[in-house]
Amino acid sequence: MQGYSTEDIQRMQRSNFGKRFQSASLAQFGDNNGDAKKITKWRGLGSALSGMLVISGPAGTGKTHMLASLYENLVNDVTSVRVYSDRDLFRRLRAGFSQEGDYLETLNGLLNHHVVMIDDFGSCGHTEWREEVLLEALDIRYRSMRPTVITTNLNQEQVTKEYGERIASRLFAADNTKVYSATWTVKR
Ligand SMILES: Nc1ncnc2c1ncn2[C@@H]1O[C@H](COP(=O)(O)OP(=O)(O)OP(=O)(O)O)[C@@H](O)[C@H]1O
Ligand SMILES: [Mg+2]
Repeated sequence: MQGYSTEDIQRMQRSNFGKRFQSASLAQFGDNNGDAKKITKWRGLGSALSGMLVISGPAGTGKTHMLASLYENLVNDVTSVRVYSDRDLFRRLRAGFSQEGDYLETLNGLLNHHVVMIDDFGSCGHTEWREEVLLEALDIRYRSMRPTVITTNLNQEQVTKEYGERIASRLFAADNTKVYSATWTVKR
């Protein structure tokens, strides 16, 4: 659909994820206890792509690498892919609305892309404001059923404890594709 060249895509991977991830590709992934199959199924074909893919697991197990690989795989097939780290999303949200303004409008704008990827979800520490925003963000994407990929260091129990049941139940919903990166073979 987009016609980006290999060089374009590497440049975009570099700017979204960093130089380390500029040539990440799904071909490097291997079977990884069936997770490759789950991810390929989620990926589907063209417009079949929908719903949430949640990659959880400890630091250094390849979550960001997988995001960058999926990005490479998707970017020519969809109208737009937007990548945020948790920190980035909040930085852009703060920059985008005035004290009097409604942050929801800004948040909706930030998330209004065909595919949204959020790396390190919940990594910047809990506050009530952050909990409210993350819940809204998940809800916006969950309701629209547009393809969303989330990585997080937190497991379901930790998300529930830190961010509450409403966030945990959306993130770990039965409909979502969930993979656990701790068992993946390539480690930092
Ligand atoms: N399939 C892979 N092939 C080659 N290298 C990989 C692969 N998966 C991960 N790596 C490498 O392993 C290292 C750790 O991966 P990555 O940064 O993606 O982990 P992470 O789970 O995102 O960690 P954190 O939770 O700290 O952000 C990186 O140098 C990455 O390039
Ligand atoms: Mg990472």
